Amino acid sequence: MQLLLNELVEKNRQWVHFGKVATYIPELKNANPNALGIVIVDIEGNVYRAGDYREKFTMQSVSKPITLMLALMDRGAEFVFERVGMEPSGDAFNSMRKLETINPSKPLNPMINAGAIAVTSLILGNSYEEKFQRILDLFRKISGNPNLQINESVYLSEKRTGDRNRSMAYFLRDVGILEGDVESILDLYFKQCSIEVDCEDIARIGVFLANQGIMPDTKEQVVPKEITQIAKTFMVTCGMYDESGEFAINVGVPAKSGVGGGIMCAVPNRMGIGVMGPALDPKGNSIGGLKMLQVLSKELSLSIF
Ligand code: DON
Repeated sequence: MQLLLNELVEKNRQWVHFGKVATYIPELKNANPNALGIVIVDIEGNVYRAGDYREKFTMQSVSKPITLMLALMDRGAEFVFERVGMEPSGDAFNSMRKLETINPSKPLNPMINAGAIAVTSLILGNSYEEKFQRILDLFRKISGNPNLQINESVYLSEKRTGDRNRSMAYFLRDVGILEGDVESILDLYFKQCSIEVDCEDIARIGVFLANQGIMPDTKEQVVPKEITQIAKTFMVTCGMYDESGEFAINVGVPAKSGVGGGIMCAVPNRMGIGVMGPALDPKGNSIGGLKMLQVLSKELSLSIF
């Protein structure tokens, strides 16, 4: 396995030159466009690491299935899905065009930005500090990394420039999907996206999902199985945005990408995979990461289909 991963990084490094790092959040420009790394944590606890696996990046949209699980635990599925749908959008992650044309007016799913902002608004807590602490605590717990923190400059950069998200959030309050202080809800969302991780952190969250919400080492059930199933299903149908169908055919595992360059995969009952490569394809997915996962899926017969 170690040799396979070393070779995987070597052979696919060329692809990073065909992608671009995200620039619409100015601070993300500082990411190393040539970086490419991977970590696999299997259900038995073996860990394999290759390439630039130590490189840090921010979760961005990789955070969305995790906050979704917390909202589902806090509020129950009925309450959550009254406010956000279950269908793929077929649009870009930051698209707002269907918000006004669909009836009832609610975001199509929790993986696009509008849906994720709605989900984040549902997290319980007596204050926004407490709500963020609850989000961070869950990330720390299921990654097994008590030191996870936000990257302050990425957070501030997104807060300063996130007008597209801001406009969608105000629209969502107008139609009754969001309640409360829009700026505080956005702040929570920007913080959740700015949690800084490495490949191993997301591989460990991946194996936790693959293991139905049970920590593989302590056997503690942290999230109910049914809720992890909902999260993984969204990862299959919408996790790679308007590239989810192609990814399902070429890789075939529940996965979630982020514009920081991360891709988290949960291969049911087998392993978690964490990939990073900040050079993105036009849909916002790590270009080198996608290529590595395609090869890996064939080599290890990972497809669930
Ligand atoms: O809200 C945003 O635009 C970012 N914080 C997250 C978007 C993202 O990661 C989309 N992923 N490919």
